[in-house]
Amino acid sequence: MNKKITVLKGDGIGPEVVNQAIKVLNAVAEKFNHNFEYTEALIGGSAIDKFNNPLPNETLETAKKSDAVLLGAVGDWKYDKLPPEIRPEKGLLGIRKGLNLFANLRPVKIYDELVSSSPLKEDNIKGADIMIVRELTGDVYFGEPKGTEFINGEKVAFNNMIYSEGEIRRIAKIAFEIAMVRNKKVCSVDKANVLDVSRLWRETVIEISKDYPEVKLSHMYVDNAAMQLVVNPKQFDVILTGNIFGDILSDEASVLAGSLGLLPSASLSDGTVGMFEPCHGSAPDLKGQDKVNPIATILSAAMMLKYGFKMEKESEAIDRAVAEILNQGYRTPDIYKNETETLVGTDKIGDLIANAIK
Ligand code: IPM
Ligand code: MG
Repeated sequence: MNKKITVLKGDGIGPEVVNQAIKVLNAVAEKFNHNFEYTEALIGGSAIDKFNNPLPNETLETAKKSDAVLLGAVGDWKYDKLPPEIRPEKGLLGIRKGLNLFANLRPVKIYDELVSSSPLKEDNIKGADIMIVRELTGDVYFGEPKGTEFINGEKVAFNNMIYSEGEIRRIAKIAFEIAMVRNKKVCSVDKANVLDVSRLWRETVIEISKDYPEVKLSHMYVDNAAMQLVVNPKQFDVILTGNIFGDILSDEASVLAGSLGLLPSASLSDGTVGMFEPCHGSAPDLKGQDKVNPIATILSAAMMLKYGFKMEKESEAIDRAVAEILNQGYRTPDIYKNETETLVGTDKIGDLIANAIK
């Protein structure tokens, strides 16, 4: 198959991790006889440097014309002083909105080889396997009105946590569909004891659940969910939640896997172009040192094959190659424990995984 991939390497460690994912995709293309055509475009800080705009129109148009987008990460401290409208993060939020990527899937899988990399107790986490389904284009991230005003002689800043029934329905459906091909459990996370928006969330999720009688639905307040994730993560199958709660819980959940450098994500719309990116940020302090873990991005490429191109076999080949290399004891610094393992850099582990595609 012929597929057009927009490549947005972004800032910080973005380029080096994306380069490893491309190596692996090329190995897949060769093995399985596909043709992946890459078009690079700018986003975030690199786009600000060139166009003074974190999401140039050209980038969004290129993305829209492709079959999928592979993204590294955006952001660098050097842009911290810029006005909010031209910060690198605005580029990321802009492309999510521009491509209508309302469904963000963040799988948390624990490799047996890495259970000891997690600060949590082995018994607690071994075998945990969670899919976080995070709504991505609504909530307090995009809600209006928002801003900063002078009221009674002082600055007051506000954002609006807002969801419509339609927005809740479409993300809930995705969570239930995913649960149907997993362990048939959805835990919807909200703050319905306090927030109106959460009460509508809960009501609407219950309504959608009626179409999925086989799926066991539970509800949990977000504060409790944050605790349960580390105390008893094995109770979860699919976690369904809004944008801000999903942002926070997915970083927390990465601790189960042992490193944020292992967590991939897929951002999907209604069947059109999807975007695939690691859950981690741009880590500017680690940039260009051949130190960071590209596995999150490589696994994001695997999600691209599975969810974007419906190439199941090819996607599994990547998952297997990653597991094999970890099994052989290769570790980047973030997951390296002791001399029984082989410490390797970003580039080397990328080569190893690409060569293990079969
Ligand atoms: C993420 C990131 C982004 C978010 C930032 C960089 C805007 O933290 O993808 O989780 O908050 O969604
Ligand atoms: Mg985040």
